[in-house]
Amino acid sequence: MLFRNWERVDDRWPPVVEVADHTGTAHLLVTRHALVRQVLADPETFRPDNALDAVTPIPVAALRILASYGFRLPPTLANNGTASHPGIRSVLAEALHPMRVAAQRDWLAGVVAARVAGLTEALDAGRPVDLYAELAADLPLLVLARLVQLPDAATGTVKRFARAALELFWAPVDVGRQRELAHTVGRFHTVLREFAVTGGGLAKALRDAGHPPDTVVGALFFLLVAGQETTSQFLALLLHRLAGEPAVLAGLIDGSVGVDDVVEEGLRLVPPIVTWRRRAAVDTTLGGTAVSGGSSVVLWLAAAGRDPLVVPHPDEFLPGQRGSRRHLAFGAGVHRCVGAQLARMETAVVVGQAAPLLVGCEVVRAPWSPDNLSFRMPDALVIRRPRADATRRPSDGPVS
Ligand code: HEM
Repeated sequence: MLFRNWERVDDRWPPVVEVADHTGTAHLLVTRHALVRQVLADPETFRPDNALDAVTPIPVAALRILASYGFRLPPTLANNGTASHPGIRSVLAEALHPMRVAAQRDWLAGVVAARVAGLTEALDAGRPVDLYAELAADLPLLVLARLVQLPDAATGTVKRFARAALELFWAPVDVGRQRELAHTVGRFHTVLREFAVTGGGLAKALRDAGHPPDTVVGALFFLLVAGQETTSQFLALLLHRLAGEPAVLAGLIDGSVGVDDVVEEGLRLVPPIVTWRRRAAVDTTLGGTAVSGGSSVVLWLAAAGRDPLVVPHPDEFLPGQRGSRRHLAFGAGVHRCVGAQLARMETAVVVGQAAPLLVGCEVVRAPWSPDNLSFRMPDALVIRRPRADATRRPSDGPVS
């Protein structure tokens, strides 16, 4: 169940339950909002060290491949419980400062408007469109590249690397696949290593703050995965959910529903990161359950968002409902997502402009998510306007 946990969210789970993964390793799954928050707020008892550990142990053959590319991943951000974390985080936080994020809004709105116009034309002509490929997949990376100097690599190369990393570290994979993934991840690591020494912007800021090249590589590695892939995934999941919420779409279009409320309700109901890990540093208890030091603690962020003690209508998409913003989709505490503001801005711009595309459309191909402990990784979202409606304009209003 660990690997398709987004299909199993309900409030009948015990607050803390032991679940074995595909290798027989036991994890303590934490299912309640208050307990997930308690763990996140206490990094001394529940350390972040295992955040990027491979859930399928990497065999020697794949480790050799990684080593052949000089792959190393020292603790820098999400998995860094050492004294270097605040300094690295503050350099990144500066690069992603809310004012710098806000300054990208108009540019992004222009790009999205042009794409939405093209997609509207295609839908009006009766052609299906893939909103994942056309809107969700590359936009977060394009924005990130404007905020933070990145290595000169094609979008497709970065996306392949990021998805390979999410699979290698968080999916149940066999040895053959681990070898393939190790090549993809290792190859891009080489690009990052060179950039860490020569690159400007964030790489230089980290070097200037005295961080060694390995730390710069680790920070860029995590940023290129967390800083774009997550938002792409969220866009696809939220647009899919909205395709089945005609009242919310109508409200978005007539202005009676705020786009920021829609984004928060989306983060609560369809978070792209469904779980996140910590490791107990000492013997302790959690919600009355004994936790031995060394245990892997899996925080079910998606279940925390649907905790009936926090939100009155946990499964309904009701923007602005009480508790809607209390989700833990971005984590909490000292490791709370440093890109939250950016992800929110990007999603608000895309959803605000793309809402009319979804009105009256049918979903031809829903996003499919492969098995993964933490990331949804949807692959497509194809919609089409039903034949009789192919010539309707979104401004005609919703189809009931
Ligand atoms: C919808 C999109 C996103 C979601 C749901 C998300 C979620 C998360 C979560 C759950 C964590 C772990 C928090 C914890 O341990 O308490 C995290 C950490 C992080 N995220 Fe995000 N994230 C998103 C987008 C972004 C973006 C756009 C960036 C940067 C451009 C980013 C950068 C980071 C970084 C650097 C960390 C590590 C922070 C630290 O350890 O100090 N994320 N994110």
